Amino acid sequence: MTYPDNILRWKKKLVLTAAAPYRSAGRFAWHFARGKLGGDPVFLELLRQGLIAKNSQILDLGCGQGLLVAWLRAAETLYSSGDWPENWPPAPAQPTIRGIELMPRDVQRGKAALGHRATIEQGDIRTAEFGQADMVVILDVLHYMDYGAQEAVLRRVRKALANHGTLLMRIGDAASGWRFRLSNCVDAVVAAARGHGRVRLYGRSITQWRSALEQLGFAVEQIPMGYGTPFANILLVGRV
Ligand SMILES: C[S@@+](CC[C@H](N)C(=O)[O-])C[C@H]1O[C@@H](n2cnc3c(N)ncnc32)[C@H](O)[C@@H]1O
Repeated sequence: MTYPDNILRWKKKLVLTAAAPYRSAGRFAWHFARGKLGGDPVFLELLRQGLIAKNSQILDLGCGQGLLVAWLRAAETLYSSGDWPENWPPAPAQPTIRGIELMPRDVQRGKAALGHRATIEQGDIRTAEFGQADMVVILDVLHYMDYGAQEAVLRRVRKALANHGTLLMRIGDAASGWRFRLSNCVDAVVAAARGHGRVRLYGRSITQWRSALEQLGFAVEQIPMGYGTPFANILLVGRV
């Protein structure tokens, strides 16, 4: 499935606005921002489906170079200047985002681009303090750690969300055959290129991911999140 032209035009405008700050962080950071924001449907769908509430305190685990911050800032800027599609929900107003990322080079790029507009900390989400949040976002991260570490992170995410929060977690469906194997190959190559070396990936089927969340007390909704890509990606929305 691909998007109709009018949506593609809005997407282009958002991508250019969100990627612009990365020019000051170097060519790689800028090209990467454009490529990822333009090629990955999850960013657009967060806005089109109104998945982020206004004034949310968001914890972005494995935030890379802070693209979610840049994306939501771009949405807020366009929305507040009246440059926004009529049939989309309002852009999430004034989110506070704290990102935690393992790789120092990603953190540096994020800080160079976004400066004081973002809080991006270098840390390992297996051990970093989470504090409290209204929303935790984990996009394509948990399969980099073993199953025990996944469970431990999810338990701490549940605590961080107290009694009212939402988890947005994108994962691949390990039961989906070649489409999952393809995304694993891409992830392994990208991880090596970004300095992780040779990584082992720990996938699960959607049923297993859902059950892990349900056991922690989340009510889970699943949204296909592979539009325009060959990957078997799903966004799980876990509500406490
Ligand atoms: C595929 S990237 C996704 C980045 C970002 N969530 C996005 O969607 O643009 C996975 C990220 O998770 C980070 N990561 C992997 N293991 C981590 C850990 N234990 N602690 C913190 N970050 C980690 C990687 O360094 C990488 O930036």
